[in-house]
Amino acid sequence: MKTIFEKSTGVDGVGISDIKLGDFLPENLLRQGSIGLPQLSELDVMRHYKELSDRNFCVEKGFYPLGSCTMKYNPKVNELLASLEGFTNLHPHQSDEDAQGALELMFNLQEALKTITGMDAVTLQPAAGAHGELTGMMIIKKYFETRGEANRTKVIVPDSAHGTNPASAKMCGFEIVEVKSNSRGQVDLDALKELIDKDVAAIMMTNPNTLGIFEENVLEISKLMHENGSLLYYDGANFNAVMGWTNPALMGFDVVHLNLHKTFATPHGGGGPGAGPVCVKEELKEFLPVPVICCENGKFYRNYKLQHSIGKVRSFFGNFGVLVRAYAYILMMGDNLKLASADAVLNANYLKEKLKGTYELPYDEPCMHEFVLSGEKQHKQGVSTLGIAKRLMDYNCHPPTIYFPLIVHEALMIEPTESESKEVLDNFVEVMLKIAREIEENPDEVLKSPQKTPVRRIDETLAARKPDLVFRG
Ligand SMILES: Cc1ncc(COP(=O)(O)O)c(C=O)c1O
Repeated sequence: MKTIFEKSTGVDGVGISDIKLGDFLPENLLRQGSIGLPQLSELDVMRHYKELSDRNFCVEKGFYPLGSCTMKYNPKVNELLASLEGFTNLHPHQSDEDAQGALELMFNLQEALKTITGMDAVTLQPAAGAHGELTGMMIIKKYFETRGEANRTKVIVPDSAHGTNPASAKMCGFEIVEVKSNSRGQVDLDALKELIDKDVAAIMMTNPNTLGIFEENVLEISKLMHENGSLLYYDGANFNAVMGWTNPALMGFDVVHLNLHKTFATPHGGGGPGAGPVCVKEELKEFLPVPVICCENGKFYRNYKLQHSIGKVRSFFGNFGVLVRAYAYILMMGDNLKLASADAVLNANYLKEKLKGTYELPYDEPCMHEFVLSGEKQHKQGVSTLGIAKRLMDYNCHPPTIYFPLIVHEALMIEPTESESKEVLDNFVEVMLKIAREIEENPDEVLKSPQKTPVRRIDETLAARKPDLVFRG
């Protein structure tokens, strides 16, 4: 497909010739020559971008079981609300007085997240899950420094954790201590006990963990950690599995981040905007980034007065549109948030049971919202998990997350979400079984895939080693 520069016809799309820029700008600031922007009619521009978007895969186009990314359907009413002019035309430097509606929405969202997580205070500033983790770990660090316990330099992280967990703790200067998983895919309690000492600041856990398995010993773990004077950090990226059924406070956690851009619509993936609010227990409230949104006598305001605040972690407030979408989703769902989690868990267990005979299931446990298969058997037959992922695209299914978590060889991490019907799930099962048969009977066909997508299989090694990123038109 040609780039828009190659398509340039020299026809002006929008005429601004009547405007004399010299009336607004000093002569010496006016550009002299052309900057070489493409020139096309408005219709040609529309066709160009429509064609590009048609080449993309999205949740509206097909099944998108990208494990850990919770690619649920994003109700379009969310988009409508996020694009209301009162929100989109607001400037972050406007006074509190001028922004009462937006502040009220943020305040109400904070309150809703407090109820849902069971925590006592919230910051909406972090712009992604990993950013929330970083914020949470900064809070934990400052908390111990303020208590004269700067000796607590270690953070325990399970070997199944998302890579951002150890990375965030490390960025705060903590030493990472890895705890092994047991044969049931859960934190090994005995191994954990060996690691706990007075230098441990915190443990970072995801529950359900990245294998999609609920950590049954979480209460015992929180008791052990608290008895040691350590804190517990909850990576809430998998919260879609447990909304309304339990919460991090009940599990004994002190700091939590949520991925609004997964659990509360606005699907993750594609690198789009996110929001990673952090919720904390009462004793950590004064450490939150400033400002937090408060309300007094019906007036909403940005409160900068927190005694031990770690300061700002972002210029303004996350990605505001994601906050609006999440709030709309929470209001719309109400008590049915609980049902959404139940359906997400049901759908994942249904797929797991249908696929486990054909693909290996290293941890054969009841799963929560996702599960992890291994393509080890198919790998031995000549097609790696990468091949299975590519072949799925030919059948209009987005591939699951692959090669993560690291503790599963040839991992295929499947998360159907609650949005999908039984028909869609059955079609996916059929496709996965078909691919397994193809690998047995005609692996070359799979190795050539994807065969129907606009871009075929690329040489990923070459792309990484010799990236060709410059357009030379
Ligand atoms: C378990 C887990 N933790 C943390 C993250 C990081 O979230 P983000 O990509 O928004 O930074 C993810 C991302 O999907 C995740 O799945």
